[in-house]
Amino acid sequence: MNLKPGFEKYIPFTPQPIQGRTWPDKVITKAPVWCSVDLRDGNQALIDPMNLEEKLEYFHTLVDIGVKEIEIGFPSASETEYEICRELIEGHHIPDDVTIQVLVQAREHLIRKTFEAIRGAKNVILHFYNSTSTLQRKVVFHMDCPGITKIATDAADLIYEMAQPVIAEGMNLRYEYSPESFMGTEMDYAVEICAAVLDHLHATAEQPVILNLPTTVENCMPNQFADMLEYFIRSLPGRERAVISLHPHNDRGTGVATTEMGLLAGAERVEATLFGNGERTGNVDMVTLAMNMYTQGVDPELDFRDINKIRDMYERCTKMKVGERQPYVGELVFTAFSGSHQDAINKGMHYMKESGTDMWEVPYLPIDPADVGRQYEPIIRINSQSGKGGAAFVMMQSFGYDLPKAMHAEFGAVVQKESDRVGKELKPDQIFALFDQEYLSVPKTYQLERHSFLEDARHGDASWVVFNGEVGYHGKVMGARGEGNGPIDAFFNALHDLPEGHIEGYQFVDYKEHAISTGSDTQAVCYIHLKDPEGKDVFGVGKSHNISRASLRAILCAINRSIYNEK
Ligand code: KIV
Ligand code: ZN
Repeated sequence: MNLKPGFEKYIPFTPQPIQGRTWPDKVITKAPVWCSVDLRDGNQALIDPMNLEEKLEYFHTLVDIGVKEIEIGFPSASETEYEICRELIEGHHIPDDVTIQVLVQAREHLIRKTFEAIRGAKNVILHFYNSTSTLQRKVVFHMDCPGITKIATDAADLIYEMAQPVIAEGMNLRYEYSPESFMGTEMDYAVEICAAVLDHLHATAEQPVILNLPTTVENCMPNQFADMLEYFIRSLPGRERAVISLHPHNDRGTGVATTEMGLLAGAERVEATLFGNGERTGNVDMVTLAMNMYTQGVDPELDFRDINKIRDMYERCTKMKVGERQPYVGELVFTAFSGSHQDAINKGMHYMKESGTDMWEVPYLPIDPADVGRQYEPIIRINSQSGKGGAAFVMMQSFGYDLPKAMHAEFGAVVQKESDRVGKELKPDQIFALFDQEYLSVPKTYQLERHSFLEDARHGDASWVVFNGEVGYHGKVMGARGEGNGPIDAFFNALHDLPEGHIEGYQFVDYKEHAISTGSDTQAVCYIHLKDPEGKDVFGVGKSHNISRASLRAILCAINRSIYNEK
């Protein structure tokens, strides 16, 4: 052996020449036929393959998602695989509209065993394969192309012969052939062997055979694969006799792109797994493919509305972990850490609400998290880089407090200080605790004990209001009375005239109030913006079942905060 060093020892992929390719001008407009290979390709790649119970749970989840073709295993490979196949059939786990698929190598004794395994099933795809790539022919089989073709056509003959009585007994049996390592096979030879298999299986347009074209090992760019596929489909004699299926793996990390471009190039069916489990870097991820279509306005015909439940099942059965950044499902994929992203999301959410638009138009969120059963609540976590809008956004999204714009900076600074102090991001509950501590539970130098208003509204806007009540000052309760042109003015005047601790120098700037519901309980929440005697802005928040009490509490909250912050 005289191996070249480093990258020089690798043989670059030879692209398939093609004239007038059409796939780049196409778009995906409908869902392919989906086939799950979780229970076979996914399962064979697990450190601990699934037991019967786990496979059954997984199978039922796939059915609930809406997958209609499910490769359940390799029943001739082991007793366990055989037993699982039998249990699915005999235990009546397979709905009538679901087809099970079983994999077998193109070898006689394994094919015979597979026919035994599927007896009694209603709908079956019998999937056989042999490897066709240049490399495998050279280093594994030491065979020329006619030899490799004979393995496939002998298997096709046997399968066709064994299928006839089974079909006569009522089984809806279809065939699938995979030229394994298709991506590493010369296209003219791939066409030749697939055409021979179609002939030997008596494929017709009415009873087409599935030609599954695996990127067993992904070794070229997605556009190069699309060229190969378009060339293959154009060259295949009697193309209408075949359903063109993809089976992408993900060695270059481009399984999704390969599949999408393969669909543009004419594929009609996709074999994939949930979250991309499978040999080495995995099979292509069915969830990402489906949700990518969904975000382009195409119905993927799969149901991922409760993605967390599917992820939990997946992690339990496979003992694998879904990564935090896995598209659509990862823990962090609906989280914005950057302040400018948070502000833009905030504005997008406001736009959605105000404009009444019926389209999703929120920057930085390619999908409405609710569509996959995720909450808005974890969209934003606050860290010291989050900017002033982030904290207010969390208060709105998670707790329904719609802070006035002028208050965002003040509360943002409170949150930022705490985030700097603890040195990490804050979660929504921690942000609410800060809000509570800063506003709702601020130490009460002044406290409203009792109040009533007497109002005299005249024609036009003129009105006269009398405040009557009791206010606590350092725990001492005093009578308070004031008159003004509105309730807030009357209350300010009453505070000014308190016998002890009278309040002066505060100026009213602005006011905002809204209802807030928790379960069946609805309260008013009021935000007051004052200028303190030094002219500094100070905000207060009050909450009550009574609207005027909420605003009076908010005024005292602002004053109490200003006194407390002076200390
Ligand atoms: O990746 C592959 O080529 C396979 C075949 C058996 C279809 O899994
Ligand atoms: Zn595979």
